[in-house]
Amino acid sequence: MPVEYSNFHLIDHPLVKRDITVLRDVKTEPEAFRAAVKRISNILAVDISKDLQLTLFEVETPLEKTTGYKLSHEIVLVPVLRAGLGMVSGFLEVIPEAKVGHIGLQRDETTLKPIEYYYKTPKNIDAAKVLLIDPMLATGGSGAEAINYLKKRGVKNLIFACLVAAPEGIKKLNTLHPDVRIYGAALDRELNNKGYILPGLGDAGDRTFGTL
Ligand code: PRP
Ligand code: URA
Repeated sequence: MPVEYSNFHLIDHPLVKRDITVLRDVKTEPEAFRAAVKRISNILAVDISKDLQLTLFEVETPLEKTTGYKLSHEIVLVPVLRAGLGMVSGFLEVIPEAKVGHIGLQRDETTLKPIEYYYKTPKNIDAAKVLLIDPMLATGGSGAEAINYLKKRGVKNLIFACLVAAPEGIKKLNTLHPDVRIYGAALDRELNNKGYILPGLGDAGDRTFGTL
């Protein structure tokens, strides 16, 4: 793997590959698109959770006492509006105790620069493990900006989870935020001159919410 991708972890799973294909297919309608996003998000959440720390405590079964486990840190999911919303329910199914913050960012279609329009996260987010979720990592502008906002609020423990990543976005995050590990379900070839990922899946927000 090239050195600039050392911050990127590709989820290599047959069910993910099957569902990324569903997302790529131009014929997939929003209902089936959302269902596939949810299934991939389940698997992403399981994979990302593998390294979570546990605290031991005593639990009483109907027969005897034994060791139980709970997550040591609070988990906060932060979807980037609007397309990130589609991934939330899949993550919450696997990590139901997670809190959810929101960051509203929209790419300016001409400059491709992200513009912030909403920010609301739980109190004490600085002590939490934060999973920033956005289906598309294209130029990396939105992801880098969202990470800036979270770091300004004191977040130190941060992971970025996406469905499709472009090399350009991975490189940008690696340069600006080398401490943030990226998990993705697909690594695509490149961006076109409008900043869309190729082969990609089109506009994730429009395909999720049927606003094409
Ligand atoms: C999409 C996507 C990311 C961003 C990625 O959002 O959900 O947030 O583009 O592109 P970048 O890496 O070049 O910044 P978009 O701006 O289309 O907003 P939407 O989710 O409201 O449709
Ligand atoms: N945002 C999207 O929704 N799709 C892309 O391909 C790039 C950015």
